[in-house]
Amino acid sequence: MTEQNPLQKFPMEPEDIDRLVAEFYKRIRAHPMLGPIFARAIAPEDGPQWRAHEAKIAAFWRNAIGMDASYDGNPMQIHRANRDIHPGMFSTWLDLFHTTAADVLSPEKAAAISALADRIGQSLRYGVTMRDQERGAPPVLR
Ligand code: HEM
Repeated sequence: MTEQNPLQKFPMEPEDIDRLVAEFYKRIRAHPMLGPIFARAIAPEDGPQWRAHEAKIAAFWRNAIGMDASYDGNPMQIHRANRDIHPGMFSTWLDLFHTTAADVLSPEKAAAISALADRIGQSLRYGVTMRDQERGAPPVLR
């Protein structure tokens, strides 16, 4: 086990994140609703663009947990800008994340990162809901 940053929010190893992220996006690619959204934004087939996306997402999680600060991005802006993403999709994304975490991590680690995902997901969902309301369009509830 590597020495952990004392500011880290809960126990987690970089290898745990890598395993979770690889399996989660494998399932995302195969998902009937979410797969096509990612295929458009990242790449239609598995390959180098997906590895780059997964590396970025792993950095995002290490940053969110307080393991390191190698992620420098703006997920709120990215999700608001992607017009394929609607508020009603977040529960599906989060369910898939919870199931994957439970399959690849210890119960404690799965619970901790799932709770963090829920909090971030709530905030992103709110941002996307506001985007739709700002346009004066009725929210798309799917
Ligand atoms: C409705 C649920 C979601 C969908 C459909 C979705 C979809 C996407 C897509 C397609 C991208 C690629 C970037 C782009 O569109 O240009 C992306 C990036 C990203 N997503 Fe999501 N996402 C969802 C929820 C979440 C949640 C809940 C989190 C975090 C807990 C998250 C974290 C990220 C991050 C960190 C990136 C990279 C942002 C960057 O480029 O710096 N996403 N997402």
